[in-house]
Amino acid sequence: MTENVKITFSSWRIEGLVPKGITILAAARSLGVDVEAPCGGSGKCGRDLVQIRKEGLLETVLACKTLVETDLEVVCPQQERKALKIVEGFYTGDNKAYRIDPLIRKELLHDKYGLCFTRVYDNGGLLLQESGNTKDYVYGIALDMGTTTLVASLVNLTSGAILGSSSALNPLVYYGHDVMSRIKYAAAQKDGLGSMHRELISAVNFLTQVLSSQRSIRPEHIYQIIGAGNTTMQHIFLNKEIKGIGEYPYQAETLDTSVATAQELSLDIAANAPVTTFPCISAYVGGDIVSGLLAIDIKYLAVPALFFDIGTNGEIALILNDRIIASSTAVGPCFEGMTISSGMRAGEGAIEHVRFEEEISLDIIGGSQPRGICGSGLLDVVSELVRTGLVSAGGRLQAHDNEKIITLQSRNPIHPGKGDEGGCKDVCTNEKPLHNTAIKYKKNLYENDGKRHFRLTDTVSISQEDIRQVQLAKAAIRAGVEILLARGNVKAEELKTIIIAGGFGYHLNERSLFGIGLLPEAINAKISFVGNSSLEGAVRVLLNKRLVDDAVRIARTAQVVELSRIPEFERVFIREMHF
Ligand code: FES
Repeated sequence: MTENVKITFSSWRIEGLVPKGITILAAARSLGVDVEAPCGGSGKCGRDLVQIRKEGLLETVLACKTLVETDLEVVCPQQERKALKIVEGFYTGDNKAYRIDPLIRKELLHDKYGLCFTRVYDNGGLLLQESGNTKDYVYGIALDMGTTTLVASLVNLTSGAILGSSSALNPLVYYGHDVMSRIKYAAAQKDGLGSMHRELISAVNFLTQVLSSQRSIRPEHIYQIIGAGNTTMQHIFLNKEIKGIGEYPYQAETLDTSVATAQELSLDIAANAPVTTFPCISAYVGGDIVSGLLAIDIKYLAVPALFFDIGTNGEIALILNDRIIASSTAVGPCFEGMTISSGMRAGEGAIEHVRFEEEISLDIIGGSQPRGICGSGLLDVVSELVRTGLVSAGGRLQAHDNEKIITLQSRNPIHPGKGDEGGCKDVCTNEKPLHNTAIKYKKNLYENDGKRHFRLTDTVSISQEDIRQVQLAKAAIRAGVEILLARGNVKAEELKTIIIAGGFGYHLNERSLFGIGLLPEAINAKISFVGNSSLEGAVRVLLNKRLVDDAVRIARTAQVVELSRIPEFERVFIREMHF
């Protein structure tokens, strides 16, 4: 009898049993996971790179040549659909309205025998010499090191073209979903920081390999990496001590722009290539927000302006005429599709938009069968549940309305007031009547093991616990906004611009932001969604070395508000738990 083993495609949230001994590529196909294999599995194209976790470590392999011998976890890269989203008016990434002046340049020369060779210069200094004419091959990598997701873009440093962008789950989620857990891990485990550093480098090498093989580019023709991330992620990337970030007085080893070589960090590109990270504002307000602020050209914004980068960390900046006030708040990974019962990244098969109309209307990425729900879909569904009264102001999934309708067609019908672990006691009194159009959706509510759920499809549901996570995330962001506005002496209605960044941010529905109270209702500002601004800032610095000075200026002049040290933060946070 054929023995089966379990294979998990973690980025796709798909797992299943497959016959032992088949290739990862065959296993992927049998489970409906789309792994690109242009040479049909002959081992020639190198386009089906995946990472597998073996004895705790990540290893990059060809899916067509690697057999599934034991239970296996596979990480596939994802093509970023809208990695660098351009917003009209102030965001110029597509048309490159800025000057290309990269750090890296090449020069073609001939020796006395007439043989050509190419010199590579790093800011005018000789980096290395290559035989032959390689002048047209000058590439760099821009890297966004999110707490949950890593995204890399391959950039042609001569033309400014972005040749491709790819993303993967940050392997450090296995050490903890938030930066504090990772800091604790580094402090508690022997070589804890070293292990995380190596995993992160391995993942960056993986993305670099994927991008270069997709474009048939040799990795040694990549001469620069610019990385942006929060302060902890940048430190782990550089293998710098992170203990001080986690304990009072919360100080990072460095807040400056750091430069190392690819060789020092074991990055598989040109050996002497400079690898640079962004300057940080503080231990908790990192290089990613500096990169984001650089990308949105703050000098052209109508102010007061509010800038959010919503990921697992929520970075917020209030931009005024004469200053920037910045902060960060712990959002949790729910908006990145992590820790949600049916959650997944915004990839193929993810429900990205939900509307309760005559029927429940779903937008699914790639138009295929829904496999899970990503952050924007989660926000939409919670907003719709709140709007229709199926979730109370206190966050409780509820079946009852003014008429006390309790008859539900469900696996285990919900009876009002029974078995509810969601919502806080003191905020469950503001129950809204059930919206007319929602009465028919009461049938989607069910209980499973005493826990409430709302069914979107046969395979995708939202649980009471998921709603609780949205509540906490929303409260963290909104409390941060309120405190920054108070610090800047700005009323919500005075804001002229709101920019929402982050891979998640790009897919958001404005109505849902107000629907769950993530933004104050009084806002009249123009709201724009700019996608991954941290990555875009890194691309810009790759293409124009002078922008490093602008980044340093932003980091050194921004004022920091450490929310954990603000006495009223907790009070505002609890108040903002209400939908
Ligand atoms: S499919 Fe081409 S190398 Fe594996």
